[in-house]
Amino acid sequence: MNAFQRFEGVLHAEAVSLIDLAAEFGTPCWVYSRQAIEKAFDEFQRELPDSALVCFAVKANSNLAVLDVLARRGAGFDIVSEGELRRVLAVGADPRRIVFSGVGKSVAAMELALQHGILCFNVESAAELERLNVVAGRLGQVAPLSLRVNPDVDARTHPYISTGLKENKFGVAYAEARALYRQAAALPHLVVDGIDCHIGSQLLDAAPFTEALDKLLRLIDQLTDDGIELRHIDLGGGLGIRYHDEQVPTVEAYLRPLLDKLAGRRLRVLLEPGRRLVGNAGVLLTQVEYLKASEIKNFAIVDAAMNDLARPALYGSWHQIVPVLTRREDAGTWEIVGPICESGDFLGHQRQLALAPGDLLAVLSAGAYGMVMSSNYNSRPRAAEVMVDGRQAHLVRRRESFDDLIRGEQCLP
Ligand code: LLP
Repeated sequence: MNAFQRFEGVLHAEAVSLIDLAAEFGTPCWVYSRQAIEKAFDEFQRELPDSALVCFAVKANSNLAVLDVLARRGAGFDIVSEGELRRVLAVGADPRRIVFSGVGKSVAAMELALQHGILCFNVESAAELERLNVVAGRLGQVAPLSLRVNPDVDARTHPYISTGLKENKFGVAYAEARALYRQAAALPHLVVDGIDCHIGSQLLDAAPFTEALDKLLRLIDQLTDDGIELRHIDLGGGLGIRYHDEQVPTVEAYLRPLLDKLAGRRLRVLLEPGRRLVGNAGVLLTQVEYLKASEIKNFAIVDAAMNDLARPALYGSWHQIVPVLTRREDAGTWEIVGPICESGDFLGHQRQLALAPGDLLAVLSAGAYGMVMSSNYNSRPRAAEVMVDGRQAHLVRRRESFDDLIRGEQCLP
């Protein structure tokens, strides 16, 4: 069952009306469904052997309540910064379920991760390997690592979120990985634990994943010849969701061929899904401020903007925008735009909607890469976040105040 459904014409999150949520928490406001997050997580768990670990990519939605819901369900976490590490520790996540990705890990972040004993560092370069060895040595520790290998496959997604091609900054080149593994195995404060790859985001085709896995398996066999035995394989994230009318693979269709290829190998499977776990579990609730007709276009100016949901402005992404309460009047064609002083500030172009000032709209599929990418541009306080759980709505991050906006700033003496 979809967590966002209409009852008597009114869009609800689980059993709570979005009209009631707007009245209680104001707009703009992010609304998440606990049930939808859990359901998405369970879809992965169902397909996987018990030994596997689903590490939620925290970057997709790092609200503590979201992390907590997933941690309680048994998720691990994929982090990319000290801040993300501190967030997952703050919800009491087990460090042995944390993997650390990213091309620019700082010394401080490495130290904190080592002190807490995380499961694995996904190392992305020779220079990082050296740094990790030094930092671990200084702490008298041995750091567990995977190399993030760039398999040079085309993920066939938006260039900004494609990461597995030679020209991308991510991972170590496939041709260099074997030598780097030997180097890692020889360093005193490192222990080779696994192999990792992540080829891109919002993938709608399962084929590039299997292509990447084939390459990784070839490398794993070469490593065995070198006497390097791996314990786990991390296949990254990247499985897409439906925003519009995309045909999206089921979790089963995505995982089955991968698990089949891994059958008979004693490799623990790790995954790093982000968007697929939370993307369709959240909406951005907004209110129409003004309608403004011009000769060429009709603008509906809403109270959410590109500082809230950056994806349309940044990638030209399409998010479905629906009225919370459907009107009977004929629909017009609207540009759904925010109050920010830039023409790139839009949430949707050419939408067919019947609108009046004061109407509530829901921007769908906004649970991933929504709030986490928001900013204070135009001195707009960041919106509230609410999580619905059955009949209950919980404020999980209060709306920012003016004091929040200027915190830490001061004038010259
Ligand atoms: N693992 C690594 C190493 C990653 O870099 C990412 C995402 C993930 C896992 C999770 O990927 P997912 O399952 O969510 O596709 N801001 C963009 C998406 C950027 C993705 C960055 N890396 C967007 O709004 O579409």
